[in-house]
Amino acid sequence: MEQDLLGLAGRTVLVTGAGQGGGRGIALAFARAGAAVAVCDLEGERAEAVAAEVRALGVSALALTADVRDETAVAGMIDAATASLGIVDVLVNNVGNYGAHAPGPVTEIGWDFWQTAIDLNLRSTFLCSQAFARVHPGPDREGAIVNVASLSGVRASPGKAPYGAAKAAVIHLTKTLALELAPRRIRVNCVAPTGIEGPSLTAAASKSSIEAMRASIPLGALCSPESLGDCVLMLASRLARFVTGEVVMCDGGASLTTARAGIPLGEGHRPELGH
Ligand SMILES: NC(=O)c1ccc[n+]([C@@H]2O[C@H](COP(=O)([O-])OP(=O)(O)OC[C@H]3O[C@@H](n4cnc5c(N)ncnc54)[C@H](O)[C@@H]3O)[C@@H](O)[C@H]2O)c1
Repeated sequence: MEQDLLGLAGRTVLVTGAGQGGGRGIALAFARAGAAVAVCDLEGERAEAVAAEVRALGVSALALTADVRDETAVAGMIDAATASLGIVDVLVNNVGNYGAHAPGPVTEIGWDFWQTAIDLNLRSTFLCSQAFARVHPGPDREGAIVNVASLSGVRASPGKAPYGAAKAAVIHLTKTLALELAPRRIRVNCVAPTGIEGPSLTAAASKSSIEAMRASIPLGALCSPESLGDCVLMLASRLARFVTGEVVMCDGGASLTTARAGIPLGEGHRPELGH
């Protein structure tokens, strides 16, 4: 039997926002596949903790503290990962969300909500992809970028218009990058999860809201960090060597149904339920 079916053993991956939640799940998935992992997070202690978990799986890890909205910090992050772990073969743009902004209808939200969503989701994805592509040595060495979008970027996103639009832009950017970088054999794909089990969802939604979300998903569960990690791993791996510019729904079938945990904007609307 072939030992390294995924082709990731001994490769180097950089995961942004890997200090908790889905990003941590992605970092650990790559570690289990034998890749060295650069664990990037705005919060240094979180990055250190996950890097220690990666090392415990028997592979190299580097904790990096960087703000992926900052062009200089992003270039430094790629340089530091390369210097410590070797050429970065895979970039996972996982940072995203919309900060502390409360969901609300378009008639009430301000531009600051838009700016936060654009910076955290689109700006970060662009800056990291650009920095990665600038130094990646392809086409003799294959590379891959996997972006983490959201179900919110695929279907209407009531209460979270800036987030949905920014994630839709990430999906579009994925396709353009895929075409531009194909001659250099850098594949670019995207994963669109439904609600991810973890601290950010627990902080944003009540227990009953989360339960309603779970009940609306055909496979009957939220996206676990492990499920997200494996989906990203698959797209970065040799198994997907002829796949580029794709969006893979990691949503338990949620996008296939009209069932939604939230109800339309209007009286009694519960925007925190959209996912
Ligand atoms: N949580 C969900 O329900 C859900 C649903 C669909 C899609 N997503 C997407 O999945 C991805 C992961 O979400 P999550 O909820 O697991 O993450 P999270 O919010 O739990 O963790 C994100 C990590 O990123 C770090 N971070 C934040 N801003 C940063 C910055 N500017 N630079 C570097 N690091 C930064 C944080 O410190 C944190 O450790 C995001 O792109 C999110 O939009 C999440």
